[in-house]
Amino acid sequence: MKAAYLQFQPVLNDTEANIKQIAELTGKITENIDLLVMPELTNSGYLFTSLDEAMSASEEIPGGKFCQTLQQIASAKNMFIVSGICERAGDKLYNSAILVSPDGKIDTYRKTHLFYEEKLWFHPGDSGLNVYEITGEIGRVKIGMMICFDWVFPEAARTLALKGAQIIAHPSNLVLGYCQQAMFTRAVENRVYTITANRTGTEKNGDKELYFTGKSVIVDPKGNYLASGGVDSEEIKIVEIDPELALDKNITKLNNIFDDRRTEFYR
Ligand code: ACM
Repeated sequence: MKAAYLQFQPVLNDTEANIKQIAELTGKITENIDLLVMPELTNSGYLFTSLDEAMSASEEIPGGKFCQTLQQIASAKNMFIVSGICERAGDKLYNSAILVSPDGKIDTYRKTHLFYEEKLWFHPGDSGLNVYEITGEIGRVKIGMMICFDWVFPEAARTLALKGAQIIAHPSNLVLGYCQQAMFTRAVENRVYTITANRTGTEKNGDKELYFTGKSVIVDPKGNYLASGGVDSEEIKIVEIDPELALDKNITKLNNIFDDRRTEFYR
């Protein structure tokens, strides 16, 4: 199957502009893609300075305009899309990721491990780490979602892998420079594909400023880097992957990464 990431620079607090950018960028895709992963908080940007600001940049799932745009793109291109989204649910905000199917179905993951000032705006995710089956000409493939800073907690990727994820889709707004290398380890220790879709650019808001590190990355279950992005570039990188490879958990004939776990010593 063909999997891809989209790396770009969202505009802070301007959903319309972000919808336009996503529509234009995906409109340029000429190949058939089965799965496209986009960055964290793609609808809203990242660097909020107040809860009100974050609230007005958010939208409800599935009724919001950003969700509807992704549904249209997923249907038109017959592909699955995973994207970060600033989600409003009643009076709460979540830093979420959605899996949008070509038939319009939307599954939601709410970020488990919030980073730094995200804790001021967002509620900690309550969805848990779940695995979804995506189906079609690709057969049946299991996909899990985690968001950015979740990578620091190996339990997140491990939980998804133990639940059968063959691909971990990882929308990100990375500010630290370690993750892109660490995803090699997340992929190898779980023998899964990882697709980290990061954003680029600098965001300024009042006296705050953040630089995002780009370099989106796709790693296969054996640790091969299938794609890695530029620091500042806007790009969609498409690679061929074989999700069957992620079903083989044997590192040697005598070592299975799941069967060899000694859980009695892990507490
Ligand atoms: C992050 O979790 N956005 C650093």
